[in-house]
Amino acid sequence: MTLLRAFAAKLIPQSQKSLPAIYISVRNVSDNTDLKAVLAQKIPAQQEVVKSFRQQAGNKVIGEITIDMMYGGMRSMKALVTETSVLDADEGIRFRGYSIPECQKLLPKAKGGEQPLPEGLFWLLVTGDIPNDNQVKSLSKAWNSRAALPSHVVTMLKNFPKNLHPMSQFSAAITALNSESKFARAYADGVNKSKYWEFVYEDAMDLCAKLPSIAATIYRNLYKGGSPIGAVDMNKDWSANFTTMLGYDDPKFIELMRLYLTIHSDHEGGNVSAHATHLVGSALSDPYLSFAAGMNGLAGPLHGLANQEVLVWLTKLQQQLGSDATDDQLKDFIWKTLKSGQVVPGYGHAVLRKTDPRYTCQREFALKHLPNDPLFKLVAQVYKIVPPVLMETGKVKNPWPNVDAHSGVLLQYFGMKEMNYYTVLFGVSRALGVMASLIWDRALGLPLERPKSMSTEGLKKLASK
Ligand SMILES: CC(C)(COP(=O)(O)OP(=O)(O)OC[C@H]1O[C@@H](n2cnc3c(N)ncnc32)[C@H](O)[C@@H]1OP(=O)(O)O)[C@@H](O)C(=O)NCCC(=O)NCCS
Repeated sequence: MTLLRAFAAKLIPQSQKSLPAIYISVRNVSDNTDLKAVLAQKIPAQQEVVKSFRQQAGNKVIGEITIDMMYGGMRSMKALVTETSVLDADEGIRFRGYSIPECQKLLPKAKGGEQPLPEGLFWLLVTGDIPNDNQVKSLSKAWNSRAALPSHVVTMLKNFPKNLHPMSQFSAAITALNSESKFARAYADGVNKSKYWEFVYEDAMDLCAKLPSIAATIYRNLYKGGSPIGAVDMNKDWSANFTTMLGYDDPKFIELMRLYLTIHSDHEGGNVSAHATHLVGSALSDPYLSFAAGMNGLAGPLHGLANQEVLVWLTKLQQQLGSDATDDQLKDFIWKTLKSGQVVPGYGHAVLRKTDPRYTCQREFALKHLPNDPLFKLVAQVYKIVPPVLMETGKVKNPWPNVDAHSGVLLQYFGMKEMNYYTVLFGVSRALGVMASLIWDRALGLPLERPKSMSTEGLKKLASK
């Protein structure tokens, strides 16, 4: 790595040396199909990059904090380090520097498929490298071989009442899976701090592997009479196995699942599910406990539950206005929603200021595969009407649709009509991003997160100085 950095230093103009070094250190592509070994090679170099960067610039002031920011949900406050993805307000998400269209183009696909395999995205998030076909296949195999659930989790899921929300079941099952945590065991055995990441990696791999089995078990228990999820096929990819476990076999639905599980994975570090996972992980709670915390956040209507809320809202709209609503009728309905003090689900974002590219790629999928679906047509019509109405309110900073405005309509088209369940799919995908980040949190030795809070009284005193 020292050689690589010396080489990089020669290539990079003096003025840019401090920034691109971070990227160069994670971009030495290897053909090795062992993800852990590839990662192990990268970690010392990145540790060195961070160490020397902090020595060089640790005291540099990069922003200011206003009192409004403290009361305003810390919007735009730069306070977290997340390596896996960065969200640009106008352009949308970039995973390790790659936009969604670039990922769709560059990441390996299933035979005959057009959408990226989420295993490839995980590889990219963990290493910074676009993997080759063999690397992705080896990840599919690794996850397939780790997919089985311990019996206490299956029994627990079977015993939950039908009226317990699927996200509560999902989160509880993930918490209970911590009986399997290799990190918790190693920590109890006194493992050296420098090796934490290795056990977090193992837990992250097990967790990603087992989530489809948990999610499919919940789906079958709630909606398919408790029928078995069936066995994992060692030759199929993660999304194909998941879709089959759920009870669907349409190849287009499998393709949708690959796209869905790729694009919902990561949205930099400050969103509720990513931040909660990172925060709880900083207490050295194991990856299962940390991820369950993230899922409890994803279950909120202002975060992941919005994809369920969108379909509920659209269904209400259809029930009240019929299937051929005019633009004016839609406008009235939207105003009624706003005047009743509710939000229009699927629109707005805390960071984005343009249409979410995750919305756009789902719209492209719909235009290709279900252009005449009545609900898709309604979603497309709503897309025209909502933004100007939200702008008219004068307070919404981003009137454009986010990822949740489109996902439900695609799922219902393929027969998955159980809206309460949708956020669970989001959760399965979110694991890829937050687990990749958690591995790096431990690899970089990030400490317990403990910001300072203040009372209004204390702030008043501070402000009067
Ligand atoms: C995502 C969301 C929580 C971001 O919140 P935010 O960062 O506070 O957004 P803004 O700064 O634009 O909010 C300013 C005001 O506009 C309102 N607003 C924002 N989006 C809105 C929407 N879709 N419908 C109605 N009002 C909205 C806010 O509630 C806030 O009102 P207030 O001042 O009366 O409290 C918000 O846009 C929202 O509630 N959207 C709908 C739910 C959703 O789709 N969530 C998924 C996000 S990926």
